[in-house]
Amino acid sequence: MTKNNKQEFDLLVKDILENEHFLETKKDLHHGSSKYEHCLRVARMSYRLAKFFKADVKSATKAGLLHDFFLGTRKEKPENSYLRHPLTAASNAKKYFDVTPLEEEAIKTHMFHQVLLKKLFPFINREEKASIKEFKPKSKEGWIICASDLLVSIIECERFQFTYAANVALILIFNIIMFKN
Ligand SMILES: [Fe+2]
Ligand SMILES: [Fe+2]
Repeated sequence: MTKNNKQEFDLLVKDILENEHFLETKKDLHHGSSKYEHCLRVARMSYRLAKFFKADVKSATKAGLLHDFFLGTRKEKPENSYLRHPLTAASNAKKYFDVTPLEEEAIKTHMFHQVLLKKLFPFINREEKASIKEFKPKSKEGWIICASDLLVSIIECERFQFTYAANVALILIFNIIMFKN
């Protein structure tokens, strides 16, 4: 990231990173590091992809940072589950921050990569319903959050690298075909 981009990024994330409720995510483990670190990595990736795809950089960065803003593990509460936590994160984001409908939607659809994976391998998390219609991102920024979460997860979860890599390739190709002008 260039110095100017870093300054712009830091300014975009500052308020959220310093918020007492968001700081609670430092206590939660996620893919081997804290949820706070994971969200920050996704925000950085979203910022970069938003610049590349000429998307709304502010919204993509904010939605990237808030995409997993729920407390506790996915197994602790039903609302934190594999496919329900995006709704919880969106509701928390709205509760504590000034979140636009575009950002809210992008947070809600960030697990689309896992919905695709579940369609390919239905035995994954059988008990949860994965609806393409519900989870398919509805904006360029939504696709960016989804791709960023997946890219960061590949780096964080070495054991799933192959399936994740195939998935991210599909999503990025879709992004390029649909939105690059
Ligand atoms: Fe998530
Ligand atoms: Fe995530």
